[in-house]
Order: sequence, then C-alpha cells, then structure tokens
Amino acid sequence: MTSSQGRKDFLSILDLASELGEILARAALFKSERHRGILRPTLAGKNLAMVFEKSSTRTRTSFEVAMNDLGGHALYLSSRDLQLGRGETIADTARVLSRFVDAICYRAFHHADVTELAKWASVPVINALDDREHPCQVVADLLTMSERWNGVLRGHRIAWVGDGNNVLHSLLLGAAAVGLDLVAATPENYRPKPDVVAAAETLARSTGAHLTFTTDPKEAVLSADALYTDVWVSMGDEAEEAARLAAFAGYQVNDALLRLAKPDAFVLHDLPAHRGQEITDSVLDGAQSAAWDQAENRLHAQKAILEHLLLPRPRRGVPRRGGSPTRSGSSRARP
Ligand code: CP
Ligand code: NVA
Repeated sequence: MTSSQGRKDFLSILDLASELGEILARAALFKSERHRGILRPTLAGKNLAMVFEKSSTRTRTSFEVAMNDLGGHALYLSSRDLQLGRGETIADTARVLSRFVDAICYRAFHHADVTELAKWASVPVINALDDREHPCQVVADLLTMSERWNGVLRGHRIAWVGDGNNVLHSLLLGAAAVGLDLVAATPENYRPKPDVVAAAETLARSTGAHLTFTTDPKEAVLSADALYTDVWVSMGDEAEEAARLAAFAGYQVNDALLRLAKPDAFVLHDLPAHRGQEITDSVLDGAQSAAWDQAENRLHAQKAILEHLLLPRPRRGVPRRGGSPTRSGSSRARP
C-alpha cells in the first residue's frame, strides 16, 4: 500500500508483489555477505519501533538484528507496556511513534488494527503478522525456495498441508506473484479466505501460477517439490483448540506423507512447531527439512524489506569502484 505522501507500507504481499524479485535478490546478497562477515550500514541513524501484541522469537529477533547489522537501531515495544495497553488509541500511538522513528513494525491480533496504524503513521508500517497475513515470513520462504531451486521459482510446485491461515494467505499471494504453483490441502471448514484467494487468482493469471485447493493432503503432495505446514492453532485461536485438533487429525506432515512427494522434496515450517501435531520430529529434524535455513532467512529477508521501504533506490549501497559503503561486522563467515 502506498500512502498519500508516497510512503510505502508492507501490510500484505500485494503491497510489494511486483518488487519481490528485486527484494529476494537483495536478501540473497545480504546473506552471502553476512556469511563472509560483511555488513552494510545502509540504515545508519534509522530507528525501527517494533510493536508486539503477541509472542515472537524469529520476527522480533530478526528485525532487531537486521537493524543492528544495517547500522540502525530497533526498539522492542510490547503493547502491554505501551500506553496502547491502557487504552491510548492506535491513531495517537501511530502519530507519536512517527515523530521518533523511521518505520514501525506491528504484530497484532487484528488486521484492522495494522491498517489503522498505517492510516495514521507518517513512516512506513510493516505487518509483523496479524490474523490475515504474515508477509515478512513469506519473503523468507521464497528466498529459501529460490536458493534450493537455483533461483528458479516459476514452475515448481509447493503443497500446503493444514490450516488456511495467515501464513497460507501470504504464501498464496507470494506464489501467485512469482509464478509458483501451489496446491493447498485444508479441511473444508478451514479453507483460506475467499477474498484472499480471489486476489491471488487475479495475480496468478498474470504470472501463469497455478493455484489449486483440495481437502486431501495425499492428493496435494503428489509430485510436490516442497511441502509446507504451520500450526493448527494459531495465536488468537486458542479457544478453538479442541475443535481444531479434531479437524486437522489427518493433516500431519509425517514420513508417510513425505514419501508421496518428489524424492528430493524439502519441507518448510515457519515455526514455532507443535511437534507431534502438524509435523513429526522425524520430518522436522530429518534430512529433507529446510525449516532451519528458512528461519535464518528471516534475517536476510528483513534487511531487504527494511531497506526497500526506507531507502530510495540510489542510496541502497551498491558497492562502488574504489570505495565500498560496506563495513566489516562482528559476524563471521560460516564454514
Ligand atoms: N515464524 C515466526 O513468525 O516466528 P515468531 O512467532 O517466533 O516470530
Ligand atoms: N499461523 C501462526 C504463525 C506463527 C508464526 C500464528 O499466527 O500463530
């Protein structure tokens, strides 16, 4: 979404659908450089406010480390500690935070609250997960798939098994945007929202992506190049736990299901996992699991997202002959 002042937000994959290729390329560069101990201080002097209503390990840490690696600073603000938790409005919070910081990321229970914050903020707003989407996660997921498929997303087939939730919504839009085929197996009552499916199908028509929906996990994973699952009980759905566990009983990603996919298929999970529910230990910890690379890629993806929203294109620190804007960092290259 672009604001009236020309400011860009990232509330949905749709906001950056046509820029995903550029963002993924930048994220891959950040990853390769960080593994060699190189950091780019392209966001020096910039501050990110991170407002969280829900728990987080990966999103919070990756945003904070990303800002630090880029020479900027991130402030973790639990909504319980902010005056927001005592009734100050989202609009007032947005206006005040915008006077202090250069961007705000917000993890909220309700998508309407994220759009409300974006409406009143004068700096870019990033959706750090809500009940509708998890767009930053899917940038990292596309990076993970791209590196496993030597940069080619188009034409590969990913099978989603489980809940038609926020992560699936962003994945549908992301797959549609890059021309990746996706088949989603969900119980009938847990299909993705029709308006998200409609938006993804519109996008898919322009890229040639095939999006299909079934209730049969076995049908979904046949010939899949990758499997993706997520928890059956998302944050905010706890009151429905018993009904959900019953509805999803046949949707576990286990060794038997994985054997139906292509022999070199890999398995994605955005984490945290509920081991023994949507995924077994043997799959998550097995040789075909890509979940740990996927988690690491949150960091590299966040950097590319932050830079994309905060820096005009010419200032993004492309190395120059005779004087690179890079700096040596404390991170060391991996073996
Ligand atoms: N995948 C993900 O968003 O993890 P966190 O809830 O730990 O941030
Ligand atoms: N669907 C999950 C994702 C957690 C990262 C949730 O919303 O809780």
